[in-house]
Amino acid sequence: MNNFIFENPTRVYFGKGGVKEYLSSIIKHYGSTVMLAYGGGSVKKNGIYEEVTGILKEAGKRIIDFPGIMPNPTYAKVQEGARLVREHDVDFILAVGGGSVIDCCKIVSAQAKLDEDIWDMENKKKTYPVEFVPMGAIVTASGTGSEMNAGAVITNEEKKIKGALFGAQAAFAFLDPTYTMTVPFQQVISGAFDTLSHAMETYFGKPEQNNLSDDINEAIMKGIISNIRILLKNHEDYNARSELMWASAMAENGILKIGKITDFQAHQIEHQLGAYTDCNHGQGLAVIHPVLYRHIYKEGVERFSRFAKNVWGISHKETKEETALAGVEALADFIKEIGLPTSFTQMGIGEETNFKAIADSTNITAGCCKTLTHQEIFEILKECL
Ligand code: NZQ
Ligand code: ZN
Repeated sequence: MNNFIFENPTRVYFGKGGVKEYLSSIIKHYGSTVMLAYGGGSVKKNGIYEEVTGILKEAGKRIIDFPGIMPNPTYAKVQEGARLVREHDVDFILAVGGGSVIDCCKIVSAQAKLDEDIWDMENKKKTYPVEFVPMGAIVTASGTGSEMNAGAVITNEEKKIKGALFGAQAAFAFLDPTYTMTVPFQQVISGAFDTLSHAMETYFGKPEQNNLSDDINEAIMKGIISNIRILLKNHEDYNARSELMWASAMAENGILKIGKITDFQAHQIEHQLGAYTDCNHGQGLAVIHPVLYRHIYKEGVERFSRFAKNVWGISHKETKEETALAGVEALADFIKEIGLPTSFTQMGIGEETNFKAIADSTNITAGCCKTLTHQEIFEILKECL
């Protein structure tokens, strides 16, 4: 196992009714002006907005609305939020939404305290913010696990890059599975697959030797697979939603990454696909994963055959390579089974897309068992059509 330092500062309030029970006692420790950030309006339809504003008003807070954070949040939206924070002297940012809202707020929180452009600061100067407007998260759609880390994925439309930025980490996160009941079911599955992807991207990293993080990871992957199957039979199954919501946080709270260099090559490809097409994150990953894995499994044959056996229950075939490939095919079959797209065409992404530019702007990761070239990424993208 590699050396590591571990800390996760987010306090999690998990379960039904948590916001009603605890939010007012937490929020009183922060200043009087709270920026309430949310997406395109689902929180107004399902009553979460009313519930949260009621609690904030009762606690005597001045509320500054920051609405309209879009899926795949843009850098322009981050700047809008940072201006709002400065203009109204916001003391606390409360993100109410899925990964997009939480990600946007993390960077708003940092940008509001900076005199320079955070994109250039992190990407060119390689320096990172240390001062933040404190924030908290109320998760309404699970999958990204954004609520328990400081990383955000922001689309810079001008530069045509969807990339990682580091900002604030939520001081607290409410994870109430009942809040996810109104998420369109396709998005529920897409989010759950994103979680499975995070687990796989960590599992297939380095080193390949056994390690406790990987044992825990296998349990999480199996849990995601079985709970997606339960939800497909009964969309409202509270227990399955709870399990998926906690798996989502677990996959991105650092625990599975302990002692490892992660892979995340599929994510890098998907993010650039997103920069050019604004596609749905989980769906893009569903198409890319099997195609990418068919390209790389031979270089990671030990790990891929362990994945086949321990996650998909495949018995050993004649060779390790055959076992490894059977695991990749089991993943591909599962994606089909749960109704996710298996080609870009099904996602409305056609051959007119500039795959060359997407491939050339994709980061090559150090943790992938095979170091890809931009040309091979281009081929992978074309195979996804
Ligand atoms: O905008 P509203 O109206 O709220 O609708 C949203 C949105 O359309 C809807 N939704 C959320 N909660 C709802 C609901 N609809 C009804 N009832 C509810 N309770 O769901 C739609 C998708 O929301 P979004 O936040 O975009 O989804 P998700 O949580 O999948 O986040 C995706 C973003 O996170 C990034 C992705 O790249 C993408 O930009 N990621 C962030 C990561 C991180 N910070 O660690 C890691 C991931 O790999 C990922 O890249
Ligand atoms: Zn993801």
